[in-house]
Amino acid sequence: MSLTNAPDPAFRQAVVRRDLDNVLHPIVQHRLLETRQVVVTGAQGSTIYDADGTAYLDAMAGLWCVNIGYGRIELADVAAEQMRQLAYYPHSAMNVPAAALAEQINGLVGGGYHTYFVNSGSEANEAGFKIARQYQKQEKPGQFRFKTISRYFAYHGTTLATLDAGGMGERKAKFEPYSGDFVHVAHPHCYRCPFGLEYPSCNLACVKNMETAILGEGPETVAAILVEPIMSGVGVAVPPDEYLPEVEKLCRKYDILLHVDEVINGFGRTGKMFAHQHYGVKPDIIAIAKGISSAYMPIAATVVKNNVFESFLGEASENRQVVQVNTYGGHPVAAAVAVRNIEIMLEEKLADRSAEMGAYLMDGLRTLMRHPHVGEVRGKGLLVGIELVKDRASKEPASPAQVGAVVDFCKENGVLVGRSNGGRKYGGVITMSPPLVITRAECDRIVETLDRALSKIDFS
Ligand SMILES: Cc1ncc(COP(=O)(O)O)c(C=O)c1O
Repeated sequence: MSLTNAPDPAFRQAVVRRDLDNVLHPIVQHRLLETRQVVVTGAQGSTIYDADGTAYLDAMAGLWCVNIGYGRIELADVAAEQMRQLAYYPHSAMNVPAAALAEQINGLVGGGYHTYFVNSGSEANEAGFKIARQYQKQEKPGQFRFKTISRYFAYHGTTLATLDAGGMGERKAKFEPYSGDFVHVAHPHCYRCPFGLEYPSCNLACVKNMETAILGEGPETVAAILVEPIMSGVGVAVPPDEYLPEVEKLCRKYDILLHVDEVINGFGRTGKMFAHQHYGVKPDIIAIAKGISSAYMPIAATVVKNNVFESFLGEASENRQVVQVNTYGGHPVAAAVAVRNIEIMLEEKLADRSAEMGAYLMDGLRTLMRHPHVGEVRGKGLLVGIELVKDRASKEPASPAQVGAVVDFCKENGVLVGRSNGGRKYGGVITMSPPLVITRAECDRIVETLDRALSKIDFS
């Protein structure tokens, strides 16, 4: 098959058969796959290709991750070269690309951080929980700080602890019960304010709610507060500008570590290299993944501020080292690819481009407000959500079937958009997170396709 393939129905049918007979897929219902599948065989820029020759404009960059766009052949060369040089060795030793990548990351976050490498966003958050707990045990021996405060309707990963930390009941229900080490508070989602208030007269009730939880639990039991600066999974909820600085103040007031999840938000997605940089905060722990390699290789990391790192320094006899290891952490091939990915982002100024194209896309999408069932268009950079409602005044969410019909219409017309998965009440959002290289013409096509979808679908 060529990269931008010619249709090959027999080949495609063989792959579908082999897949259905052998693969257990995540999240999709297999019965649906029997009749409708995408068999991706190539991709270029912001477009993916099915083996049947269909091209789709991928307005989700895969799973919010292919930030530099598809088809960067030079990353294949970097991987091949590194594999020839050194394919693998455990990260208890040092290797050249991982050291370079950690230095690059430290520069991007403004200096004063060390990086612990893992393989996925879930692991990056999970390692963050463990680092926070170990830090608190070492630094506050008389206290028992093990809890993490997190928000309802957040998503932080798929392991048991990260699911526990997340606040999406529908995603968690099948695996209950959980540890109870994660205390959930209201999320900052102004369009659907959990307190029924309006910004700014709300006086950030969501932060007050967080402080109440800290006091109620007892600050001496809380290790960290975990926040995704702009909540993606709930449908791209952009908080008021003061929210994150106020959360940071709570952390400093009660000696709690600020753990920021930049798994989606990071690497230019919101118009700066990291979303927390919009708000002038200095997190203690930063989980990064996805855009770190634009998903060309699986790699992720937990980045810790030096005051946290220093707690892990000592004589061997003190037993203060990071007490965990993962086989592939600091993988030299993945690290080498990530280094070049980040260089490309910097050379092509993709964070700035994200801000510029995000503004362009959002201007276009705001014209869709003429449809009565668009409740709000919101986002930052190229992280965008469109709230669909049955009724703009009551904000009653569009039904899952209606949102699904919009997604399906777009797909049938060659544009892949996402939908929020925050739960039934928050399920009415079309999401977009395209490659940061998306063009104006491609943005226009997204707007035009959604325009047709919104005209066609019955929202009554
Ligand atoms: C905000 C956030 N955190 C963590 C994760 C988990 O990342 P991964 O799927 O790489 O484990 C995701 C995945 O989408 C995410 O959106």
